Amino acid sequence: MLIAHISDLHVRPVGRPANRVVETNMMAERVLRRVATLDPAPEAIVITGDLVDCGRDDEYEELNRLLDRKLPCPVYVVPGNHDRREAFRAALGHLPGVTADPDFVQYSADIGPFRLIMLDSVVPGAGHGELCPQRLAFLDAALEAAAGRKVLIGLHHPPVITGVAAMDSIMLRSSEALLARAAAHGNVAAILSGHHHRAIHAAHGGTMLLSVPAAAGHQSEITFDPKARAYFHLEPGGIFLLRWTEPEGLTAMLDSVGDLPGPYPFVVEPEYPGMRRAGAAS
Ligand SMILES: [Fe+2]
Ligand SMILES: [Fe+2]
Repeated sequence: MLIAHISDLHVRPVGRPANRVVETNMMAERVLRRVATLDPAPEAIVITGDLVDCGRDDEYEELNRLLDRKLPCPVYVVPGNHDRREAFRAALGHLPGVTADPDFVQYSADIGPFRLIMLDSVVPGAGHGELCPQRLAFLDAALEAAAGRKVLIGLHHPPVITGVAAMDSIMLRSSEALLARAAAHGNVAAILSGHHHRAIHAAHGGTMLLSVPAAAGHQSEITFDPKARAYFHLEPGGIFLLRWTEPEGLTAMLDSVGDLPGPYPFVVEPEYPGMRRAGAAS
């Protein structure tokens, strides 16, 4: 079974690139086309926030045009700091769970053997994320209801310290509360996030912590200089393909989408040291 995890589409009004240079709508189109042609088709698409760039109604209109294609499965979304919660709910209320809660975009859904718990980590007017007591109470109830099931949690802000100052200043400030609950539940296979525009993998107990690169392709520069300001590079858009089978468990593979050369075949040179045993290429 496959689940496609994407994030940070940053859709803009037509003809207005994000940050003046990033053709986010084109990149979102390519990523969604890739997801739509996966074989086998994914069971679900999970989108962890920053669906648009400024929370504008015309951006959500364009987003809906992009989503209104023959996607092969349900689409589960939560907002990020570039979304505006009320505009998000108004524009995307047709998607499952978006209006299930009166105050936040938070809900649970079943995907194959997994219970997906989607959390709203947005703090209006701020770049960082938080889970207030009301949202943590929702998480507690959702985890309680998911007892005995494998759980995936999706939210925008990563609960991970990276050492990159620009990222850590806007991370999830409730990460200890979230990670303690995941550990106590003991059945949270992965926490899926975006926001940092960079592939980040970490672990907490038995839980994978994954932050997927931006679908829009403007990926953050990695620098460990604490005084450095944030820059981005134009790189491929990213999709985490979560593959699960009963005997083999869960793996996450990063699929890059962009104007990339290839595919090329692997060519085995005569001096390749793995050649003495048949079938050892690649
Ligand atoms: Fe973003
Ligand atoms: Fe963000």
